[in-house]
Amino acid sequence: MKENVEKPLAAKSIDFTKVLQQIRVFAPATVANMICGFDVLGFAVDFPGDEVVMYKVDQPGVRIRSIKGDDGRLPLDADRNTVSACVQMLLQHLGIQDDIGVEIELIKHMPIGSGLGSSSASTVAGLFAINTLLGNPLTKAELMPFCVEGERLACGHGHADNVAPALMGGITLIRGYNPLDIVSLPVPSELYAGIVFPQVDVPTRDARQLIKEKVLLKDAVTQWGNIAGLIAGLYENDYDLISRSMHDVLIEPTRAILIPEFYEMKRIALEEGALSFGISGSGPSVVAIAKGKEVAERAAARIQAHLDACDIESLKYVSSVNMGGPKVLN
Ligand code: HSE
Repeated sequence: MKENVEKPLAAKSIDFTKVLQQIRVFAPATVANMICGFDVLGFAVDFPGDEVVMYKVDQPGVRIRSIKGDDGRLPLDADRNTVSACVQMLLQHLGIQDDIGVEIELIKHMPIGSGLGSSSASTVAGLFAINTLLGNPLTKAELMPFCVEGERLACGHGHADNVAPALMGGITLIRGYNPLDIVSLPVPSELYAGIVFPQVDVPTRDARQLIKEKVLLKDAVTQWGNIAGLIAGLYENDYDLISRSMHDVLIEPTRAILIPEFYEMKRIALEEGALSFGISGSGPSVVAIAKGKEVAERAAARIQAHLDACDIESLKYVSSVNMGGPKVLN
C-alpha cells in the first residue's frame, strides 16, 4: 500500500500481507415490507440467495469475471454492474482503490425482478466478500450505507428493507433513513415463509411508480396500527397479534393487479391456516407467513398447484427466518 496520511482510519488498519487470495460468500434473499411495513420492515430467508466468488489479482481495480444464472441480463461492465460498482465505492471510501485489484464471479440462484431482493443479495454478498477479504475493516453497520447505495443503483431508489435483513439476518426495522437507523427485531422461532414466485417479471422500478404518493389519513392510521401491532407481536411471541396485524391497506390494493391470481392465492393461503399472505417486496413473489413449517409448505404447495392449473409457471421456496445474513462458504 502506498503511504498516504490522508487515508481513512479503517484503511490504515488493513494489513496487505494478510489480504485473502479468494473468498466465496452467500447472501440470502429477503421478504421486504413484511406485508404491512412498506420500506421499513423486512426479513431474510435461508434460501434462495446469491453467491459471489472474489479473487485478489495483481492489477488494481474491480472487474467482473463472469455472471451465471442471470440469462445474460446483468451488465459485465464493472462501472454498470451493481456489485462491482459498490465494491469500487467501498475501496474508494477506504482510499485503497489503487492498491488492490479484485475480480468477481457472480452466481445468481434466484430470479431477477422477483420481489425476493435479488439485487440486494448480490450486493450484500459482494460487499461482505471484499470486507472479509480485507480483514474486516468495516463493521456491518458501516457497510450498510454502501448496500443502500447499491439498491439505489439497481432500481433508482435507496430503500433498505431488502439490504438490511440480507446483511444483518433476522427481521429488521428501518426506523429512519436520514440518518439510517436500523433495528433488529425478535424472531419467533416457529415463523415460516411459504414463498411462491409466479414467473412474470415485475421490476421494482415499475412497481414503485404505480404507488400513489398520497394516502388517506384513515388508511395511514390503519397501517401504523398494524405495524406497531406486528412489532408488539414479535416481542411478545404472540402469533394471533402477528396475524391480526399483517394487513396492508396502502400498497397491496395497487400492486396486486400486477400479480396473476393474487386474491385466489390469498384465499388458499388463509384457508390453509397461514397467519397472513401478501406481496413479497415489490412482487410478483407472494408470501404466506405461517406458524410452523407444515402450514407454510401446504399453503405454498396449494398455491403452486393453483398456478399450474392456470398455466402459470412458478417457483416455490419454504424457509424459516435466516438469522445470520451473509456467510463465507468454503
Ligand atoms: N420496499 C420496496 C418496495 C422493496 O416495496 O418497493 C422492493 O423489493
